[in-house]
Amino acid sequence: MANLGVAAIILAAGKGTRMKSELHKVLHPIGNKPMVLHLTDQLEQLGAEKQVMVVGAGREQVERAVSGAEFVVQEPQLGTGHAVMMAKDALKGFSGTILILYGDVPLVPQSVLTAMIEARSADDAPSLVVLGFKPLDTGAYGRLVTAEDGSLERIVEFKDASEIERAINFCNSGIMAVDGSKLFDYLDATDNDNAASEYYLTDIVAIARAAGDRVVTVEASEADVMGVNSRAELAVAENIFQNRARAAAMAAGATLIDPLTVYFSTDTVLGHDVVVEPNVYFGPGVKVGNAVRINAFSHIQEAKIADDCQIGPFARLRPGADLHEGAKVGNFCEVKKATIEAGAKVNHLSYIGDATVGAKANIGAGTITCNYDGFNKYQTTIGAGAFIGSNTALVAPVTVGAGAIVGAGSVVTKDVDADALALTRSKHKELSGWAKRFRDTNKK
Ligand code: UD1
Ligand code: MG
Repeated sequence: MANLGVAAIILAAGKGTRMKSELHKVLHPIGNKPMVLHLTDQLEQLGAEKQVMVVGAGREQVERAVSGAEFVVQEPQLGTGHAVMMAKDALKGFSGTILILYGDVPLVPQSVLTAMIEARSADDAPSLVVLGFKPLDTGAYGRLVTAEDGSLERIVEFKDASEIERAINFCNSGIMAVDGSKLFDYLDATDNDNAASEYYLTDIVAIARAAGDRVVTVEASEADVMGVNSRAELAVAENIFQNRARAAAMAAGATLIDPLTVYFSTDTVLGHDVVVEPNVYFGPGVKVGNAVRINAFSHIQEAKIADDCQIGPFARLRPGADLHEGAKVGNFCEVKKATIEAGAKVNHLSYIGDATVGAKANIGAGTITCNYDGFNKYQTTIGAGAFIGSNTALVAPVTVGAGAIVGAGSVVTKDVDADALALTRSKHKELSGWAKRFRDTNKK
């Protein structure tokens, strides 16, 4: 059955009122990526032929943020069954497996989706697979009523359930894998004769059974199917994502000394033998090579860090930081849109922006590239092996040649030749005994 292909319907028509946000609920980020893109990425990796997204209020935002899906509008919103029905034309003639997913249930792992698709191709060929879970608090979830043989008989919504049914702890996540040649026929048979006066997607279980089709369940963990309806649940989802990312980083060969204090983005890449000290934040777009040490309290985003580099403690790598092999960016340094070539060191209290620092150059403490005049940004180029003395201001655009030395406290406004010494500070002047005389005169 699986070889007939996979398509998906993602429901995202709900208003998400409880988020109290101008941003559509499914676009709130988890791991710095809009939550619904966690799903669409999974589906792409799974090789889904088609993704149909059911949208309603705020759909312009969703349509702008999601590429690779076809959008259908559900207006008004008459229930989950009605929502899925909106995808009928978009999936006309598709007879593979249709996954039904929810834009606000973004963390369902690939392995779970695969298990559902595989369940459909089992010998008993179920036409419908429902993803169930056993939450700590069963709350108002729909309950899965199973038959003697372990198959699924029907789903009863909490509002419609009897006391006995409410005592069932196997709950409906809402996620399903359905035979595409049957799904819309099942939905045609639903009505809204229930406590909520809605068209329930869940009713298709009993409808499939009545048609003589088999329905089974696959079980997931509560974390895998958690839904985001509020900021508090968003924080829970973020935490689940972070714990998965931490585990994956360690499994891939990185040491996290205190994993719970390290924060990842969905696209963070760490090489092997990377050591990450406590309290490090990886924003989007970070790629770290092998054997890199990232010391405590560093904040890194859109940066490339090659093998054997050392970062921090308290380093800030901003977009466009490109550290070549063995480079060091140390305490309280900020690097933006700058290449730090192999073995170069920016170790203390410096700002390096719009710059190239040549291989093995040494940037002294408190060096600042003055890259901005309030209107435009200018480039600083520092040659290989150059030595910039402490507390130097490099007023861009400016070039310091390879092997040059700039004396401490200089304000460099002109290019410095290779191997030259540049000193711009005022001459050292000393008045012998002046301080003592000053004190004596002022003493009463
Ligand atoms: C649904 C299930 C319930 C399950 C629970 C899991 C039904 C009838 N019930 O209940 O068994 O335990 O999810 O969280 O399916 N949506 C639309 N259009 C609509 C209605 C809903 O797009 O007309 C979307 C919502 O945006 C949301 C999702 O479908 O993402 C679920 O809707 P919701 O109203 O939360 O369903 P529940 O009542 O929680
Ligand atoms: Mg709900």
